[in-house]
Amino acid sequence: MLTDLRESWQIHDVAIPTRVVLAPMAGVSVQAFRRQGRRFGAGLVCSEMVSCAGIEHRNEKTLGYLRVATDEHPLAIQIFGSDPPAMAEAARMVAAAGADLVDINFGCPVRKVTKTGAGATLLDDAGRAARIVEAVAEATDLPVSVKMRRGLLDGARTCLEVGPQLVRAGAATLTLHPRSAQQMYTGTADHALTAELASLVDVPVIASGDITSRAKAQAVLATTNAAAVMVGRGAQGNPWALREIVDGNAREPSREEVVAELVLFIRETVRELGERRASGFLKKFYGWYLGRGRFPKPFKQELVVLGSTEDVERLLIAAAPGALPLLERLEDELPSADEVLLDALPISIYGGG
Ligand SMILES: Cc1cc2nc3c(=O)[nH]c(=O)nc-3n(C[C@H](O)[C@H](O)[C@H](O)COP(=O)(O)O)c2cc1C
Repeated sequence: MLTDLRESWQIHDVAIPTRVVLAPMAGVSVQAFRRQGRRFGAGLVCSEMVSCAGIEHRNEKTLGYLRVATDEHPLAIQIFGSDPPAMAEAARMVAAAGADLVDINFGCPVRKVTKTGAGATLLDDAGRAARIVEAVAEATDLPVSVKMRRGLLDGARTCLEVGPQLVRAGAATLTLHPRSAQQMYTGTADHALTAELASLVDVPVIASGDITSRAKAQAVLATTNAAAVMVGRGAQGNPWALREIVDGNAREPSREEVVAELVLFIRETVRELGERRASGFLKKFYGWYLGRGRFPKPFKQELVVLGSTEDVERLLIAAAPGALPLLERLEDELPSADEVLLDALPISIYGGG
C-alpha cells in the first residue's frame, strides 16, 4: 500500500506534519534552507552538525548554528562529539535554543571529524555511542534522534547491532543512511538494510539516501517500513523536488520562480551570515538553482565571479524581470525577520555578551 506522504506522524510528542525530512548538510542547511524546506513540504528540518566542543567553548560561529527561527519548527539540531558529558552539555544548549529534537551524528565519514573519535567512528564503539545517547537523553526532555551510516567499511552491517542498543539507551528515532563511511557518497544507498533495521526496533526509522523523487520515496517507504524519508542532495537548490515528493506536483518552476526563490534565499542568507560569509557560501547554490529555468550555461559563471550579492541579485532580476512581483508576494507572505528571530538564544549563552 502506498504511504500518504502528507500524513502526520510523531516522535514522542513532536508532531511531524509530513513524511519528508530535510537532511542535515554541513555547509548547506542554514536557516534559510530549512525555512524554505518547511515551506515546500518538509515536515521536519535539521541543522547542520554542530560541534559540541565549539558549544563548550562558546565559539561564536558555532553558537550561530543554534539560532532557531519561529517558522521552522519542528526542527532538530544535530550535535557531534565523542565525550558523553560534553554532548550532554551541548544537548542542554540545544534545548535552550528552542529546538524540538536533539539529533546525534554517528554518521559523518569526514576525517576531520572521525579523527576526534566522533561521527561514524562511534559505530565501532557501541559502548561509547550508547553512553553518549544515555547522557544526552538524561540531559534534556527533548526526544533524542540518532543519525548513522551502515558501518565503517564496505559491506558492514554494524548499524543492525548498534541501532537497537541506541534505542535501549534512549534514542526515540533512528535515521539510517545505508552507505558505509568508506563509501562516502559513491555507489547506492542499500535500503534493504533500512528494512532490516526497522524490523529490529520499535521506534520510527527514517530512511536517508538517494531519495530524489516521489516514486523513489514511495518505493522506499513501501519496502522498508520506515516512518519517513529524508531528502538531502535532491533538495539542494531545488525546493521543488520536496513539493514533488510530498504532493506529486511535478510542474517545473518557471525562470521567474527560480529567480524569486534564489533572490529570497540570498537575502535571508545575507541576513543570517552577513555579506562577507554569505557571498562565498552562496556560490555553490547558484549552479544548483540554475539547473532549472533554462538559463544559458555561461550565466552561472557570470554570477560566481561577481564580488557582492547585490550584483548577483541585479543580474538575476535582469535575466527575469517578472520575478520581482513574485518576490514581493513571497516577502509579503513570510513573517518579517523581527518576527522570525524571536527564538534567538538568551544573550547570556553567547558568553559575556
Ligand atoms: C554536503 C553534505 C553535507 C552533509 N552534512 C551532514 C551533516 O552535517 N550531518 C549528517 O548527519 N549528515 C550529513 N550529510 C549526509 C546527508 O544528511 C544524507 O544522509 C546523505 O547525503 C544521503 O542522502 P541524499 O542521497 O538524499 O543526499 C551531508 C551530505 C552532504 C551531501
